[in-house]
Amino acid sequence: MLDVKRVSKIYEGKVAYRALTDINLTIEDGEFVGIMGPSGSGKTTLLNLIATIDEPTTGEVFINGRNPHELKKDDLAKFRRRELGFVFQEFNLLHTLTVEENIVLPLTLDGTKVKEMKAKAEIIAEKLGITAIMKKRTYEISGGQAQRTAVARAMIHTPKLLLADEPTGNLDSKSSQDVMKMLETINQQERTTMMLVTHDPLAASYCHRVVFIRDGKFYSEIHRGDNRQAFFQKIIDTLSLLGGDAYDLSSVRA
Ligand SMILES: Nc1ncnc2c1ncn2[C@@H]1O[C@H](COP(=O)(O)OP(=O)(O)OP(=O)(O)O)[C@@H](O)[C@H]1O
Ligand SMILES: [Mg+2]
Repeated sequence: MLDVKRVSKIYEGKVAYRALTDINLTIEDGEFVGIMGPSGSGKTTLLNLIATIDEPTTGEVFINGRNPHELKKDDLAKFRRRELGFVFQEFNLLHTLTVEENIVLPLTLDGTKVKEMKAKAEIIAEKLGITAIMKKRTYEISGGQAQRTAVARAMIHTPKLLLADEPTGNLDSKSSQDVMKMLETINQQERTTMMLVTHDPLAASYCHRVVFIRDGKFYSEIHRGDNRQAFFQKIIDTLSLLGGDAYDLSSVRA
């Protein structure tokens, strides 16, 4: 599904900054992978390179066998809209629109018929438990509801790969677990491949595998197996070995 090959990223500027060095990462179809590491270790940089929001300095990214960085502008826009879904920490919802209008936005851009959009929105809203707030504006809903709306919008066109940067970063423990359970359900039912950047060990424990990076380099990876509680503990142990601010007690909300 996803192949990141020897990717490095140097931010040019007054002082050039090497944010990623030689990252290799393969994610299989239907896999649910977490990315963790201290602040500034390059997680968002990596996600942005995969999301084609930014370009790698060296190395290649393949999504479903295609290198999106080689596509022309129009094809790239289409590719992003059809194959990828994004969820960000700040939700990125449009405040002048209702929840429903936000959710169907990607379909609007593709020229889907209104009836079809409504039907699709209804199905996904039900799955995410936000049917009752569809007509509300985004400033009238809670953080957890906003995050679920953002997930609904990312999922409405059934992307093959969902990329999420701190999707539970602004949420309390209960909402955070709700969002993770929904992502888990979507991953199981739709077989959507998921890649999730998070600081939260509890959120990460929903993943099949967690990849740790430090100073822009691969550090280690661990697999869940069938015991989520034991996995959660292993994540915490690895974070404390990682150092930096990766393991911050305040972020543990189990
Ligand atoms: N546009 C940019 N120009 C220059 N340097 C940047 C840019 N974006 C990020 N960096 C630097 O690259 C490094 C990695 O940043 P990145 O945002 O990927 O970290 P992160 O792991 O997502 O951190 P956090 O957990 O705090 O979100 C940081 O040292 C950051 O200062
Ligand atoms: Mg980040």
